[in-house]
Amino acid sequence: MTAEQIDGKAFALTLREKVGTIAAEFERKAGRKAGLAVVLVGDDPASQVYVRSKGKATLAANMASFEHRLPDDVSGGALLALVEQLNQDPAVDGILVQLPLPAQLDEQQVISAISPDKDVDGFHVINAGRLAVGQDGFVPCTPLGCMMLLTSRLGDLSGLEAVVIGRSNIVGKPMAQLLLDANATVTIAHSRTKDLPAVVRRADVVVAAVGRAEMVKADWLKPGATVIDVGINRVPSNEAGKTRLVGDVDFAGASDVAGAITPVPGGVGPMTIAVLLRNTLVAAHRNAGIDLAKDAV
Ligand code: GUN
Repeated sequence: MTAEQIDGKAFALTLREKVGTIAAEFERKAGRKAGLAVVLVGDDPASQVYVRSKGKATLAANMASFEHRLPDDVSGGALLALVEQLNQDPAVDGILVQLPLPAQLDEQQVISAISPDKDVDGFHVINAGRLAVGQDGFVPCTPLGCMMLLTSRLGDLSGLEAVVIGRSNIVGKPMAQLLLDANATVTIAHSRTKDLPAVVRRADVVVAAVGRAEMVKADWLKPGATVIDVGINRVPSNEAGKTRLVGDVDFAGASDVAGAITPVPGGVGPMTIAVLLRNTLVAAHRNAGIDLAKDAV
């Protein structure tokens, strides 16, 4: 069997275009653009790349982008003061503080300082709680993007066996909640799970989010399973001195067994920014008191 590739890049592009169209309508109705503020502390090269591409994507989607850069030795007080200023700023609908933060800063304290109504990352405990009890809130971008890919491929997930590998607050836990809300039977597996291959073999849907290069092997998969690979791991390539990106799943092997699979790169990765823009658009409508149909984006 050769698995169908789930084209996250194309899906993300379509979503970004849809968001851009609705954002232009929002601007006409509200008399201002929807706005996303991104805070980058320090000069980590990977974070700089992410922040730059978020800024570009925001502008391309007819939204305002506010970038704030702080030195890596900034005090907690100064960062919290900036977050509070952004909480109060009516031009800012969404606030994202790029993680990880330098060691002297308390990430949980900073996330807790963001207004839950501007927390487009969905990391605030209020939004985690809303997701847990089924209230409207903001859902972390990567798992929501995975869910969009899954439902576009499978439609109704009701009664399917889903195994999420990884239990992080950013991906694994919210992913499991979303699958449960969609009436899947959900297992969260992790580093202490006994006989992980046997657990994964039960799954109609596998979401791998552990950060270990090509850990999930072809013979762990039930034939025809749908595989969502959240991993982005840099490994040495065959060319001397070069590296390449691989997921948490052995893509070549898994493609012979799975029914459908997301590639790395070009699968889940591009969805994260697209969903961030989607969440910002939703925040803008809520903050401005303008209706947005539930299934609009
Ligand atoms: N660092 C890597 N991915 C993310 C993300 O989705 N949100 C934030 N805030 N930081 C990140």
